[in-house]
Amino acid sequence: MKIKQLKLGPMDNFSYIVWDESLNEAAVIDPAWQPGAIEEFLLHEKLALKLLLLTHAHPDHANAALYFLQKDKDLALTMHKEDAFLLDDAVSAGGGSAGLFGGKPLKLLNGEEELALGRGKIKVIHTPGHTPGSVSYAADGAVFTGDTLFVGECGRVDLPGSDPKALRQSLLKLAALPDNAVVWPGHAYNGNTSTIGVQKEYNIYMKLAAKSEAEFLKAAV
Ligand SMILES: [Fe+2]
Repeated sequence: MKIKQLKLGPMDNFSYIVWDESLNEAAVIDPAWQPGAIEEFLLHEKLALKLLLLTHAHPDHANAALYFLQKDKDLALTMHKEDAFLLDDAVSAGGGSAGLFGGKPLKLLNGEEELALGRGKIKVIHTPGHTPGSVSYAADGAVFTGDTLFVGECGRVDLPGSDPKALRQSLLKLAALPDNAVVWPGHAYNGNTSTIGVQKEYNIYMKLAAKSEAEFLKAAV
């Protein structure tokens, strides 16, 4: 799998294009701010967009989703079901796995699914805390952590649906990944990329999460 990181918009957000080279099928993770820049890259590399994924449904990670959904009726916006409340116009069908977003297909994850991309796979890891439906996506030695884990920081836990105790558990879940797993965060805070091993050693929130719930809550809340 190959990865392109694009820093877009006024809040230093990252959108990611992840693709399987054998079939040139791509996923866009957190389509936001400048769909034209994302589209230009897809065209330049001759990639077919197959998956449109959100790490969570805050607008700064999702505000270009509709652009891609309007262009391709076969695409569905894919995100965790517990973040559907953040989409004004999401209609969940019977609490199940399908619905609509802006009149376009919405595929709601339960967490822990494996999504096929070309000949590869993207594993969904439910990492709630910043929002209840935050997920990280793991693929081929990389993990896209959204606003759960940044370089040297963790996500805010003072927003609607935030849960600091859940965030601690999610950081512990990420800490259990291989030390050499490459971290690709949702914002360019302190740096663009790192590894799980380096974050376990230097990220104060990762360290306190491992130490105790009380210590973590004291620092994070
Ligand atoms: Fe966020």
